[in-house]
Amino acid sequence: MGEAKKLFIKTYGCQMNVYDSERMAEALGGQGYVATDRADEADMILLNTCHIREKAAEKVYSELGRMKPLKEARPDLKIGVAGCVAQAEGEEIMRRAPVVDLVVGPQSYHRLPEMETAVRQGARALDTDFPEEDKFAHLKARPKAARAPSAFLTVQEGCDKFCAFCVVPYTRGAEVSRPADRVLSEARDLVERGVREITLLGQNVNAYHGHDGSLAGLIRDLDRIEGLARIRYTTSHPNDMDDALIAAHADCEKLMPYLHLPVQSGSDRVLKAMNRKHTAESYLRLIERIRAARPDILLSGDFIVGFPGETDQDFEDTLSLVRAVEYGQCYSFKYSTRPGTPAAERAQVEDGVATERLHRLQALLGEQQRRIQDAMVGRVVKVLFEKPGRLPGQMGGKSDHLHAVHVQAPDAAVGSIAPVRITESGANSLGGVLA
Ligand code: SAH
Ligand code: SF4
Ligand code: F3S
Repeated sequence: MGEAKKLFIKTYGCQMNVYDSERMAEALGGQGYVATDRADEADMILLNTCHIREKAAEKVYSELGRMKPLKEARPDLKIGVAGCVAQAEGEEIMRRAPVVDLVVGPQSYHRLPEMETAVRQGARALDTDFPEEDKFAHLKARPKAARAPSAFLTVQEGCDKFCAFCVVPYTRGAEVSRPADRVLSEARDLVERGVREITLLGQNVNAYHGHDGSLAGLIRDLDRIEGLARIRYTTSHPNDMDDALIAAHADCEKLMPYLHLPVQSGSDRVLKAMNRKHTAESYLRLIERIRAARPDILLSGDFIVGFPGETDQDFEDTLSLVRAVEYGQCYSFKYSTRPGTPAAERAQVEDGVATERLHRLQALLGEQQRRIQDAMVGRVVKVLFEKPGRLPGQMGGKSDHLHAVHVQAPDAAVGSIAPVRITESGANSLGGVLA
């Protein structure tokens, strides 16, 4: 066999893309590729892209522009585009960017090995099908190499909700759940390879129905895997938060006290226009029930400001909802028009107005995050050590509540979990000492 070819993957977007990038690297491993973190020495560059907002999608074309000289210097270099922009704009990418050899959508990447063979022979290859077959069932078994203590595991993909602003139902397709036995065996393999924490992924992960007992049933089965210490899941939709899942937060020991539950807006008028199919009030009642099950749960969310038709009063309603919930961590975005979605046709909010609202919302969310983080000082929390910190003898990891924590712990092993007394609260992380 000749020397291994090198593969450089650049990942944009959500955690599912991070997981997909790993699986694509593994699929190309079978074609003789090893990973590199240097684009300039790669034989193949894959951009795993995100289409969620305009800026994310534009990045792809500017990145491809930067690749032109690389390709001119080394005509053997193959360039591929994967992910949600590939799905949404595959043919346009082929037309606009002659440097691109290969375009593969999120549901077709099990076909990468054949596509790679084709492009090595000089062809250009495009596959943005939503195939009948399940890509996971067609990917080879995962390699056995040791890995980092925290891993993502996709269990559900796609979305049937069709929020009026969102491209995901078009780029990822309809909701599909992976069978529980496959998920459980992949989880066991990950644990054998050193994983202590698994985050289950899905665009609507709590709509998972690959187990008789839905997501809660899957979590309870995972809870019994020896060696696995922590379970998380993301992203959830309020309408799929069933009683069994809420109950799991009360008594499932390995299920961590953290929940990302996007609401998008606090105005019923806007929620209706967004096609969210819940109200601000129903969301607040839901939060009450979740907190009754797990009082110390840290809540996280997503917000969009400047959705078409959003008035000052609507925005004030969003601020009121945020005040009522008290989030520990949030993402907030200015509405971005996405071609082909229903909201793109509506009258848009003036950009300056949306920017000002975003700043006000982010100031409030920032205060809440700060308050909850500062309240950890003096408490003893459990930290999963993930990697050495910046200073000598320091280890970095995450608490149960997903706070980043750095600890002076020269003898602690990566993958171990230890009680830590929090002594300081910094800009985006906590500091502490072994308790
Ligand atoms: N499936 C998840 C998240 C999908 S995308 C869910 O339903 O919660 C992640 C976040 O991006 C969304 O929650 C939303 O806040 C934001 N988002 C999606 N489309 C957007 C758009 N057109 N403009 C701005 N933000 C958007
Ligand atoms: Fe997009 Fe709404 Fe589906 Fe989330 S639930 S992926 S925001 S359409
Ligand atoms: Fe982006 Fe696709 Fe994820 S649009 S957020 S990469 S599902």
